[in-house]
Parts: sequence; C-alpha cells; structure tokens
Amino acid sequence: MKGIVLAGGSGTRLYPTSLAVSKQLIPVYDKPTIYYPLSTLMLAGIRDILIISTPADLPQFKRLFGDGSALGLTLDYAEQPEPNGLAEAFIIGADHIGDDQVALVLGDNIFHGQGFSGLLQETARSIDGCVLFGYPVHDPERYGVGEVGADGRLISIEEKPARPRSDRAITGLYFYDNDVIDIAKNLRPSARGELEITDVNLRYLAEGRARLVELGRGFTWLDTGTPESLLTASQFVHVMESRQQVRIACLEEVALRMGFIDAQACRRLGERLGKSGYGRYVVEVAEAAS
Ligand code: DAU
Repeated sequence: MKGIVLAGGSGTRLYPTSLAVSKQLIPVYDKPTIYYPLSTLMLAGIRDILIISTPADLPQFKRLFGDGSALGLTLDYAEQPEPNGLAEAFIIGADHIGDDQVALVLGDNIFHGQGFSGLLQETARSIDGCVLFGYPVHDPERYGVGEVGADGRLISIEEKPARPRSDRAITGLYFYDNDVIDIAKNLRPSARGELEITDVNLRYLAEGRARLVELGRGFTWLDTGTPESLLTASQFVHVMESRQQVRIACLEEVALRMGFIDAQACRRLGERLGKSGYGRYVVEVAEAAS
C-alpha cells in the first residue's frame, strides 16, 4: 500500500503564523505538525510515501526529510499549486500510487491510541473499496459526518452539514483501493470549487463499498486548523509525554519499532539531534533496543 500526506493549503485560519511557514511545519509541542500524520502512515506499515504541498513550501519538507532513507522510507514530493481540494491528491499522486492501494492522511491530523498500529495494519490487509475512520465529536458540523445504521453499516456521508445526522466525524485518514484514481479524475468541483474527498467517499458508498472503522473512547483525534486547536494539541502532547515519559509520533522510534531501521541507525539519528530532549529520547530508545 502506498501513502500520501497532503500538506498544502493556505492555512488562512492560522494567519499570521502561517504566512511565511507551512501550517504543517508549525510545531505541535516538540515537533513539526507533519510528524504526527507521517507517523500514522508508518504505523500502518507504509514506507513508500508521497508528500504533497505548495510549490513555496515543498523545499522545506525536502530539507526536513530528504529522501526518507534515514527513516527506512522512500519519500517523494509533488506540488499542488492551488488548493483545489483533497481529492486532487489522487490525481497528483496517480503515478506514485500506480496499481496499488493508497492511504491518504491530512497533514494537520493527529491520531493517538493504544493498539492503533495493529488496527491500521489489519484494516490495510482487507480493503474492498474504501475505509473511513469515524470519531465522535461535539461539533460534527465542522467535519465530514458519517451516519451508521443499526447493523453498523455506513448509510450516509455529508460534508459539514448544518444539521448533522450523527456525531461521527470522518477523520482525515482514508484507505482506498486503486479505483480511487479514476473516481477522482471523473469528479466535478463542488460549489466551493474543490474536488471534495466526501464526493469520492459518496461514490464508494453508492456502490456499497464504503466501510467505517470506529475509533472509540480509547483514541484521541485532533486537528490543528486554528490557534485554539493547535494549542489544545500541543497541551495534549505535552501532558501525555511528560506524564508517561514516552514521545508521541517520534518518527525515529516508530521506524525502529516497525523494523524500518536498526538500533544503530536510530542512535545515530538521535545523536544528530544534539542536546534536545527529543534527541536524547531517540538515543535512549535506541540503547534500550540494542
Ligand atoms: O480533518 C478532517 C476533515 O478534513 C474531514 O472531516 C472533512 O470531511 C474534510 O473535508 C476535511 O475538512 P477540512 O475543513 O479540515 O478541510 P481543509 O480544507 O481545511 O483541508 C484539510 C487539510 O488539507 C489542511 O491542512 C489543508 C490541506 N489541503 C486542503 C485543500 C483544500 C491541501 O493540502 N490541499 C487542498 O487542496
């Protein structure tokens, strides 16, 4: 399965913070925002990943990650010149996806929870159509919303409905079979001029091939679109990390635990980060594993 991180857009709700810096490079506590969604793809076992961003911001992502080989990944980069919608990722990424399945994660989405890696890997093994991940929220009108019938099957999906039929937000992580490329290519722009991911998902739903995986109470899902949600995310990560003495979305640790790199390589990556607490943590993780 291939992966795509969509990290473009203009981030206007974070202005002036995101005027000169990509919103996905702004830190959530101790690391850039993009670390979190990238770790999600890695936890699913995905190593071949395309990062899509604006022409202005893409060089910064390349500077941060290079070709990905240090983390045992193959990273490619592609430009999205205008924010034409989330579904454009499958058109821009068509060559990257090839004839494979694909997981798309939005560059501002943070997932955390016990057993997440196992859930993702199991889900990735059995895709027929698309798999969406639902999460109960108190403000579903801000998101794509999924309605589930008594038998647990998905019966409707709406994008930012004024009157939501349920409290289940559709999170910014999506698994698709290869049909997604053709579906995206045949989409028409919505009233707001975008190729909507919800319209892709509605196509699968109409064919009876859309599945919703519920992320329950044990999970945390956050996005970082506004100053408030960015602060909330930073506070969450800070509390969890200082209380539990583990780091969330530490890419070097994830690469080590997933078997993408060995302890020696992990240690070198930690040492390169110098005296930061994050760097020391990476070295400790490597030492504990060797
Ligand atoms: O976060 C989950 C939600 O993401 C879903 O529940 C919605 O169904 C989905 O439409 C999306 O809603 P948002 O309002 O968060 O979408 P937004 O336009 O803010 O874009 C999400 C991220 O993707 C954001 O970091 C910017 C980036 N983006 C957005 C567009 C439209 C791109 O990189 N390219 C784009 O063309």
